[in-house]
Amino acid sequence: MSTATVSPSAAPTADGQSPVLAVRDLCLSFGAIRVARDISFDLARGERLALIGPNGAGKTTLINLLTGVLKPDSGSATLGGRDLLALKPHQRVRAGLGRTYQITSLFRAMTVFENIFVAVSERMGASTMLWRPAWSRTDVCAEVERILEIVSLSDVASEPISDLPYGRQRLVELGLALALEPKVLLLDEPAAGIPHREAEVVQRTVDQLPDDIAIILVEHDMDLVFRFAREILVLVEGAVLRRGTPDEIAADPEVKRIYLGTSE
Ligand SMILES: Nc1ncnc2c1ncn2[C@@H]1O[C@H](COP(=O)(O)OP(=O)(O)OP(=O)(O)O)[C@@H](O)[C@H]1O
Ligand SMILES: [Mg+2]
Repeated sequence: MSTATVSPSAAPTADGQSPVLAVRDLCLSFGAIRVARDISFDLARGERLALIGPNGAGKTTLINLLTGVLKPDSGSATLGGRDLLALKPHQRVRAGLGRTYQITSLFRAMTVFENIFVAVSERMGASTMLWRPAWSRTDVCAEVERILEIVSLSDVASEPISDLPYGRQRLVELGLALALEPKVLLLDEPAAGIPHREAEVVQRTVDQLPDDIAIILVEHDMDLVFRFAREILVLVEGAVLRRGTPDEIAADPEVKRIYLGTSE
């Protein structure tokens, strides 16, 4: 696996730290449509960045470029100084780029605890310790319990996934992502399609994720965006229109005109 450093990550952020994720000039076209136009941004350790923009602005495309679902035509990205784009999707996860998975990737007949246990064992190397039953690893069990606490699932730890309401299944996905100890977590509309009452639990959980994980949240609900974000990146037609604090973005006339559809 390449450990080469690439120049973009060298530039320190305002607090003097190197960004955990540095994206430079990412471009992608689908035929004549330019879905990513010279996208550049840095993400600091523990950052809370909301990615907003109208439907079709290219938010999911950007997430897919970072996870490796899509390959850019040009540009670069580094994660902790490593060339992210040189890595395959599963290598990006191992390098610290967390993402949520589809519910279909959960073992539905297994319990919540067992699902998270499998992921934690894999990360901690317990799954290969054949001389010792994985269940006897108290460090693994303690880590699973810690994650269940974070994702508000301790009370249903012993229930099979298939018995859980949809919103809680989404929280298991979030737990699986956390089990792999991400440096950066990408969340694309994590509460989409979830009934209102359950969605609130998902949103509260996202608000309370550990401080050291940098999070990029794609979200349409502006109340949630302003509650969550320390900074907001506005994408329009595949390009970065603005980046700023929630106050700066809320006051920006261009953002109001293009994104919110008002001209005041
Ligand atoms: N596989 C594809 N082939 C061709 N065009 C695509 C493909 N995927 C996305 N697009 C186009 O790329 C543009 C950006 O789409 P994308 O899904 O990234 O937008 P988005 O900002 O996530 O929108 P939404 O808020 O609706 O989720 C759109 O014009 C979309 O039609
Ligand atoms: Mg999208």
